[in-house]
Amino acid sequence: MPPTATAQPARFAAADAAARIAAASRRTQQPQSRDDLVSLSMGEPDFDTPEAVTEAARAALSAGRTHYSPLLGEPALREALAEKLTGLAGTPVGAADILVTQGGTAGLAASILGIVNPGDKVVIPDPTYSLYADLVSMAGGTVVPVPLASDLHWDLDRLAHALSDARLFVFCNPSNPTGIVHSHDELAVLAELLDGTSTIVLSDEAYADLNYSGRPFTSALSVDGLRERTVYCQTFSKSYAMTGWRVGYLSGPTDLVHAAARIHNTFNGSLNTVAQDAALAAVQSCEADVARMRTAYEERREIMSRTLSGIPGLTPSAPEGAFYQFPRYELDLPSADVVTALRAHGVAVRPGSEFGACGEGHLRLSYAANPQQITEGLRRLAQGLADLA
Ligand SMILES: Cc1ncc(COP(=O)(O)O)c(C=O)c1O
Repeated sequence: MPPTATAQPARFAAADAAARIAAASRRTQQPQSRDDLVSLSMGEPDFDTPEAVTEAARAALSAGRTHYSPLLGEPALREALAEKLTGLAGTPVGAADILVTQGGTAGLAASILGIVNPGDKVVIPDPTYSLYADLVSMAGGTVVPVPLASDLHWDLDRLAHALSDARLFVFCNPSNPTGIVHSHDELAVLAELLDGTSTIVLSDEAYADLNYSGRPFTSALSVDGLRERTVYCQTFSKSYAMTGWRVGYLSGPTDLVHAAARIHNTFNGSLNTVAQDAALAAVQSCEADVARMRTAYEERREIMSRTLSGIPGLTPSAPEGAFYQFPRYELDLPSADVVTALRAHGVAVRPGSEFGACGEGHLRLSYAANPQQITEGLRRLAQGLADLA
């Protein structure tokens, strides 16, 4: 007689890297969007990609540019980016030190996996963009979050202490989720703190074009003492409303660019040729589009900040860049619960805790949405908070 017991389905354990990310990750999966929901949760421009970019993509397709691209990226795009970074850094950046990546995400992944060994200490601000900690966990590194000061800028004393023996410091400027823009002076202090150390800096400048501070934006590449140790990560997603095209790039010390290229080639292979031709059009001919969108975001920032300051129980932040507000609320409730309750009132926002333990007590609101959505979303938010109180 065959055995009657039904066999248990086999269980397949995932690799430790996946388990480490799952254990460390603060990223929350956004529930399915609904038609009746106003979303202030996405870090996604609501503008169409500029016409010159889509036109370049159509031309690339018509010309049959549908084959493998070189692994480091299209030479013409890398030349144009090298020229742009030379202007930014104030010293020559060669095309040999540019790697075109699958969006900013893959550039950050390739950098971190190319730098961090198991057990290495990696310092990040708290709160900050949640991908960094996940990538460090994937690499087996140890994340050391450093609480921000109450004005959401770096707490330099705490940073000085945390940076001793750090392999890497990762930050974004302008910051997601706070909207803070780090000034030249802050970056110069960071350079001083790192003087004489072998700590590497990863400067994610995804929102560099969205700066409303009234000061010129300072790239880490332009700061003496940082330039030599900085891996610079950039994306076309935000400045050019190209989130779906998946094009980014990085540059930095030659050895680190080679290491990142090795990881990127292994993980991603070369980038879609059509998207790279489109990106070249963006760099070469879309400055006016970038300026137009920046002006619109600045107006939306005003609408959002003004409205938020009239909502009882909320203290708006003072964002100078990107397209995020990071208000603090007074309720004695975790931000994830506040977000769930607000969804029931028809508005989607992100919990501050997603960006670090010190983000708790905050919400992240995006003003990449259009003004009508912002106004209606904040009306619902005010109602939701009043009900919770
Ligand atoms: C600070 C920061 N860096 C990088 C990215 C990733 O951008 P990409 O769409 O190019 O992967 C984002 C996306 O939200 C971001 O906020």
